[in-house]
Amino acid sequence: MIDKRKNDHIYLASAPESQVGDSWLEDVVLIHKALPELDLEEVDTKADFLGRRISMPFIIGAMTGGTELAEKINTRLAKAAEEVGVPMYVGSQRIGILKPEARRSFEVVKQYAPSVPKIANLGAPQIARLPEGEILRWAEEAVAMIDAAALAVHLNPAQEVFQPEGEPYFKGVLDKLKFIKSALKVPLVVKEVGNGISREVAQALDGVADIIDVAGLGGTSFVAIEGLRAKPEAPQLYEVSEDFRTWGIPTAAAICEVRSAFKGPIIASGGIRSGLDGARALSLGADFFSASQPLLKAAMEDRVVEALRKIHMGLRTAMFLTGSANVEELKRAPKVLSPRLEGWLRQRGII
Ligand code: FNR
Repeated sequence: MIDKRKNDHIYLASAPESQVGDSWLEDVVLIHKALPELDLEEVDTKADFLGRRISMPFIIGAMTGGTELAEKINTRLAKAAEEVGVPMYVGSQRIGILKPEARRSFEVVKQYAPSVPKIANLGAPQIARLPEGEILRWAEEAVAMIDAAALAVHLNPAQEVFQPEGEPYFKGVLDKLKFIKSALKVPLVVKEVGNGISREVAQALDGVADIIDVAGLGGTSFVAIEGLRAKPEAPQLYEVSEDFRTWGIPTAAAICEVRSAFKGPIIASGGIRSGLDGARALSLGADFFSASQPLLKAAMEDRVVEALRKIHMGLRTAMFLTGSANVEELKRAPKVLSPRLEGWLRQRGII
């Protein structure tokens, strides 16, 4: 059952029907600097992530594991991550914990990407119902499985509603996250899966999460994916999912929401499709950016290095054209926000 779901997610996420909404990243215009006063080759895109130097502030997003196809994808992602020097997440590792034969599909990541930081992954609904001792065992196993530098827990209430076999159990999740933070030796990342994290949630996570990944609206929609999966057996679930396809906080707004309440590092994701999108996200207050679906598609075609190099070149170009010699300068680059985004930030008391 879980195996089929994993492969369904891979195929449906590759299709245009799963890409919905708008990240609002185009609502951020970085101001062109006709006098950059630096050479393109001088632009330094490097960053530090979990104590390691990486080639750019980019992280391969959380996607998969558990099936033969997932193993192939993780292998390709890991090889590219190692070659380019960027960190990577894996997808939810529950299947690897419950089924020893599924473990290999995650373990390939430590084999092929030994030197880059890797992020383990578990889902909130699963930990919500486990006793603390079991949670710690799962968390430690997930980390050891890929030699992870951090553990991510994903919050996905919208996905669980529309997933035919979903587990919309979120009572007590915050306390379980606090427990993980106190018991686990590696840092805790808390992420969404494409519906975004608000200021109020970021406030609740301050002091609990070490890093927040906003995973906002504008790219892959798990409401759309689960709705499509539900369609044949549960047409009503599909019909309601259609109303919620664009539910969520657009990524650009989510970055500002989280930045207004959370002091730790922020990863921007959700509909980030280029190095320029990443530059816009950094200018809004993110420290890193991440993408999933484009790299899934690249992995299917065995062109992940090429996809990463394109992102790198886009970021470098945006830095050059704003006169930013390094990532810290890019974060302070002058920009103009559209009235739509500015209105959101005013109504929410962020500016
Ligand atoms: C995901 N995502 C995800 N996230 C997570 O924390 N655990 C998971 O197991 C998965 N599984 C998964 C499978 C596939 C095929 C995709 C494409 C994505 C969500 C992902 O990390 C990210 O938050 C969203 O996909 C939004 O980013 P993009 O795709 O718009 O760049």
